[in-house]
Amino acid sequence: MSEKISVPISNDFCPQTLFCYGTYCDDGRSDFGLFCWFSYLWDGELGVMMCIGEDKQTRDNIRKNRHFSACLVTEKMLPLADYLGNSDGRIPGKISADIAVEKGRKLDVPILSDSPVVFELEATRSIPLDDGEVFLCKIHNVLMDNDLTDQSVPLEKRIGDVAPVSTTCETYFSWDGKAIGGWGELAEK
Ligand SMILES: Cc1cc2nc3c(=O)[nH]c(=O)nc-3n(C[C@H](O)[C@H](O)[C@H](O)COP(=O)(O)O)c2cc1C
Repeated sequence: MSEKISVPISNDFCPQTLFCYGTYCDDGRSDFGLFCWFSYLWDGELGVMMCIGEDKQTRDNIRKNRHFSACLVTEKMLPLADYLGNSDGRIPGKISADIAVEKGRKLDVPILSDSPVVFELEATRSIPLDDGEVFLCKIHNVLMDNDLTDQSVPLEKRIGDVAPVSTTCETYFSWDGKAIGGWGELAEK
């Protein structure tokens, strides 16, 4: 073990799972952004806690409608997810027609068809901070690709097939730990 040193505040080397949050805007169009400040809570049942850092379309929509989706980001989806995390939903035309979007099953929320695991969420409480806002959310439904429920397939194979992306140090990592690219690089390609 090497000696520990104090470094500037960050969460470097603490990987996070990525989700695209889907919301509806006032005019009925769907908006998706990319998010990683997402975790779970317990209050008699499993719930979600998440933070939105500053004012943005997703936050406006969640404040108004309370309902949104969180769609797990996979390696296959990453170029799209990177674009969604680097483009402002307040600028018209962010979501193009060739993105496969469908509706949640229990809540009126848009979801990304390519995501194998989707939470349908209701923000039941929020804690406004000086800039960001923390939301505590009830999980109304979990949608999962049917293949993932097949217990006869080893878990390692099923999660390997999902290939969820994680991120730290402003870099995306594959499920097997390889660096895939920096934030904003994949959308550009
Ligand atoms: C890898 C990555 C993770 C992000 N995670 C968050 C997050 O957890 N919270 C947040 O407020 N913004 C986060 N963002 C920024 C939003 O994705 C960005 O503000 C985006 O424009 C939101 O979409 P919208 O403008 O359509 O609301 C992240 C961006 C990237 C690239």
